[in-house]
Amino acid sequence: MAIPGIGMLKGLAARALRLVMPHDGRDNSAYWRGRAAEAGSAAVLWRNATYNGLVREREFAQIAPVLAALPPGATVLDIGCGIGEVARWIIAQRADLRLTGVDFPEMVERARREWPHAVPVEWVGASADEFVRPGGFDLVLSSGCYSAIRDRAKCVRALEAGCAAVKPGGVMLLIDPFHTSKYLARVRMGPAEVIDRVQAQGLHCEHSGGILFWPFREFLSNSRWPERWLPGAFALGERLLPRLGERLWSDYKVLRFRKPLP
Ligand SMILES: C[S@@+](CC[C@H](N)C(=O)[O-])C[C@H]1O[C@@H](n2cnc3c(N)ncnc32)[C@H](O)[C@@H]1O
Repeated sequence: MAIPGIGMLKGLAARALRLVMPHDGRDNSAYWRGRAAEAGSAAVLWRNATYNGLVREREFAQIAPVLAALPPGATVLDIGCGIGEVARWIIAQRADLRLTGVDFPEMVERARREWPHAVPVEWVGASADEFVRPGGFDLVLSSGCYSAIRDRAKCVRALEAGCAAVKPGGVMLLIDPFHTSKYLARVRMGPAEVIDRVQAQGLHCEHSGGILFWPFREFLSNSRWPERWLPGAFALGERLLPRLGERLWSDYKVLRFRKPLP
């Protein structure tokens, strides 16, 4: 029998551990491969499906203007595409785009199986640091992928491969929880370092912002908060963000870069 409150205690203990333990920067590929079997959006986001839906709305609002500006038939790389949730939305907006989704084989296998559109997608089962296609894409999108690579050396290789994959004139859009604080970091790398590393590859940063007010993200994303209260609490957090400072208070950073034409 489930003991009420035990989940909350476990959550608090896990948070306290994050504060006192050293940051775990070991390769975590096995963790993500295993998560591909989890139900619905919990495979790639959090346990609260309503919260995940609200996250998608915020995320899609960041991607929409970039998609709208792409030329007809443009090529898009969804790096770390997971089970294809973002890819589905992209093709629902723009069926003319040629999309490539890269993730571990367990993830892309599920994305392929559950793909609802007639439009074909190129699914590639590979690690982001090993996927090399220089100048192949008008848009390279990471929705939580680069930051999920906790091993810094591997994350840097993946980021550099992503930069190389952008065509001249093309865009790289990162919607990723980049943090230096041990408490929030997946890979321990802040947005300033990411911007420096991407700019060192010849792209320039056009926009730097953030979404998902992190104190609320921490407590709502895996909670069992009633569905009727959650959207209001989420919206309050997102309204607080620009007032308090997106750089400091957002969980997911939104970084947009462009590769100049020669
Ligand atoms: C937070 S999930 C986001 C998934 C997807 N982009 C979405 O928004 O639904 C992070 C994803 O990055 C993938 N990932 C982690 N490390 C990776 C790596 N080294 N190469 C490719 N994908 C990786 C995971 O398998 C997972 O699907």
